[in-house]
Amino acid sequence: MAAHGANQTHKGYPVTVKYTQLFINGEFVDAISGKTFETYDPRTGDVIARVAEAGKEDVDLAVKAARNAFDNGPWPRMSGYERGRIMSKYADLVEQNMEELAALETLNNGKPVAIARLVDLPTCSKVLRYYSGAADKIHGQTLKMAGPYQGYTLHEPIGVVGLIVPWNFPLVMFFNKISPALASGCTLVLKTAEQTPLTALYCANLAREAGIPPGVLNVLSGFGDPAGAAISHHMDIDKVSFTGSTETGRKIMEAAAKSNLKRVTLELGGKSPLIIMNDADVEEAVNLAHQAIYFNMGQACIAASRIYVQEGIYDEFVKKVVERAKKQVIGDPFTDGVHQGPQINKTQFDRILQYIEYGKQEGATLLTGGNRIGDKGFYIEPTIFSHVKEDMKIGKEEIFGPVMSIFTFKSIEEAIELGNKTTYGLAGGIVTKNIDVANRLSRSIRAGIVWINCYAVFDGDAPFGGYKMSGIGRENGLYDLSNYLQVKCVITPLHHSPWL
Ligand code: NAI
Ligand code: MG
Repeated sequence: MAAHGANQTHKGYPVTVKYTQLFINGEFVDAISGKTFETYDPRTGDVIARVAEAGKEDVDLAVKAARNAFDNGPWPRMSGYERGRIMSKYADLVEQNMEELAALETLNNGKPVAIARLVDLPTCSKVLRYYSGAADKIHGQTLKMAGPYQGYTLHEPIGVVGLIVPWNFPLVMFFNKISPALASGCTLVLKTAEQTPLTALYCANLAREAGIPPGVLNVLSGFGDPAGAAISHHMDIDKVSFTGSTETGRKIMEAAAKSNLKRVTLELGGKSPLIIMNDADVEEAVNLAHQAIYFNMGQACIAASRIYVQEGIYDEFVKKVVERAKKQVIGDPFTDGVHQGPQINKTQFDRILQYIEYGKQEGATLLTGGNRIGDKGFYIEPTIFSHVKEDMKIGKEEIFGPVMSIFTFKSIEEAIELGNKTTYGLAGGIVTKNIDVANRLSRSIRAGIVWINCYAVFDGDAPFGGYKMSGIGRENGLYDLSNYLQVKCVITPLHHSPWL
């Protein structure tokens, strides 16, 4: 086991675990209880380091620091321009430390290091830059009153914000959450997922180097209960933004209702359909479907876990998508050319294998995969089921693993009906060359984001979030700022004014 601060090298990538304490009020500190917990390498299940474990009393301390920074500190009071400049410097620092951060992300999360370097890390600095540019463009409206009054609105930061993130995209989630909150002038208490605490702590230190004042960004490592629950129940937190399971999202809403009615945004699970029409280029459709489910080992809320293929190309598609899955390179995520690393931990690994069993028991046809790979770490074969129905467990529940389910349909009406036959509504995809079909389907799918002839394309300016049980609110884009702002209306009489 590596001690805190030990240097390690993984296939030529140097990784140093520098930060393992809680980040409160601009300082790294131990938990008040002195407790720590182990964080693991998903390639082996071995311990990487021990990390301070936040309890309720540490949440209280972090909230106190954030409250003080909000009520008395410079961050909410400085101009948006100044906040934006500091955030832009923060983005520079993330870029300068990209290689080290990518390697640390891979060590703790198991995603291929090439993806961490080329996708995750650039997404982080881009979203930070997007909102650094938005910080000086937050303004209200001048109202057109019916009487002799002047009215206008102010968009004020909501206050102290609690942010709870999951383990599948630890850093992307960290920056997706903190960037709009910082731009708005809020102060933050963020809890990382218990599986992946390391990179966020590294980035807490970069925030300090960039000049984000003490107390503005507090980062806690710890478990859903007690630390996450203490955030969602806290009487002095004004808003919580959460990404994770629908089950935990429900608990967070309940906690908000039972405490101070804090505002809640939730980005939850999905069971997203990818609808492939007869006119599609089959090779392209196969590639898209493959990426749309196997990206990030299937651990993505937007994963296209229901692939709907129109009957005319069904047989050809199935044959080719199975061949494609068999070519997937699975192995150590630090090795060049590896597409798929391990699942995050034993719990998720067991859960996915259990779903594969359900699929077999419920009568779906297992076309390829279905087994673990090796006897160490949490590797699972890319798995494909055909003859899946929407009421089977694998057809309706989020598996969060490398398991593709294939369905078929005859007409566009049937595609719409079946595609929407889910309690979720996070994303959807369409593959067709026919613009009329694309327009009709994109308007008919009940989901927060629809990709036509592409999938999982994200952008700072592209809002993202759920219909139905996939969540509440939107992240990214200017829409997300409204989650961190209050609207205040100010009215004053007009005397001797030439016009209203
Ligand atoms: P989870 O929703 O329980 O955990 C996500 C975050 O919530 C973590 O930081 C966790 O510590 C925190 N949390 C857990 N219980 C809490 C509570 N009572 N109050 C406040 N915070 C709490 O997800 P988990 O257990 O890691 O994964 C279970 C399933 O959730 C996955 O199989 C997947 O289906 C789904 N999931 C969806 C994600 C998404 O991106 N939408 C991300 C992670 C998981
Ligand atoms: Mg959980």
